[in-house]
Amino acid sequence: MTKGAMLYEGKAKQVFETDQPNEVIVRFKDDATAFNAQKRGSVDLKGEMNNAITTLIFEYLNEKGIPTHFIKKIDEREQLVKKVNIIPLEMVVRNYSAGSMAQRLGVEEGIKSPVTIFDICYKKDELGDPLINDHHAVFLGAATYEELDEMYELTSDINEILIDLFDKMNIILVDFKIELGKTADGKIVLADEISPDTCRLWDKDTMKKLDKDRFRRDLGEVTEAYVEIYERLKKVLNK
Ligand code: TMP
Ligand code: ASP
Repeated sequence: MTKGAMLYEGKAKQVFETDQPNEVIVRFKDDATAFNAQKRGSVDLKGEMNNAITTLIFEYLNEKGIPTHFIKKIDEREQLVKKVNIIPLEMVVRNYSAGSMAQRLGVEEGIKSPVTIFDICYKKDELGDPLINDHHAVFLGAATYEELDEMYELTSDINEILIDLFDKMNIILVDFKIELGKTADGKIVLADEISPDTCRLWDKDTMKKLDKDRFRRDLGEVTEAYVEIYERLKKVLNK
């Protein structure tokens, strides 16, 4: 398998073609952005940690029957994945109030929700990834109602598995965002990454934030938080 031309560069990752038409290489960068790239920076070791954390989580989800794009980790910064067409909808799940929902609703952060809250955002940088609803998604042609049903079910299953996994790490899964893609044969699979960049993770005892909010909010010890998540994950998975 050889690495070819870069197909795409995002804020935190690059995607390269390979000699296999249905496989691409994802490279994780240390670059960090927040608030639709108005805040920019870099976090030491972030690329390596997010590659390693995403690898362990996607392998674990695969074992639990969740279809993903993941094939294998190549090295510290790169992984081989199935080529997918990313569905331009960010699937956000919230178990506790935080972030944009806390702001929008005028509530404090950290309130446990009696129900699982699902948001969808339209992936469009120029618009700042706006919050939309199912009807807008269908109007935009991003997904059909049937596909949305399948996407919510998959997202919910992933949430259940991850709540349990992070609980074993003494961590509250406050909220997270995933992206789904369609493979060449039209199957909907989990793609992108699951890492401290895309989740809010709070230590159960101290409520210390162990995620990208440390960068977004200038809380310090950003690298340490990513390393801490990786170490706890390795421990519970015996890796
Ligand atoms: P929010 O509260 O800012 O809407 O974020 C909800 C969750 O989604 C949180 O875990 C962070 C994650 N997220 C991303 O992964 N990418 C993004 O661009 C945004 C805005 C949030
Ligand atoms: N990564 C996103 C951006 O740069 C937002 C975030 O994660 O807060 O806009």
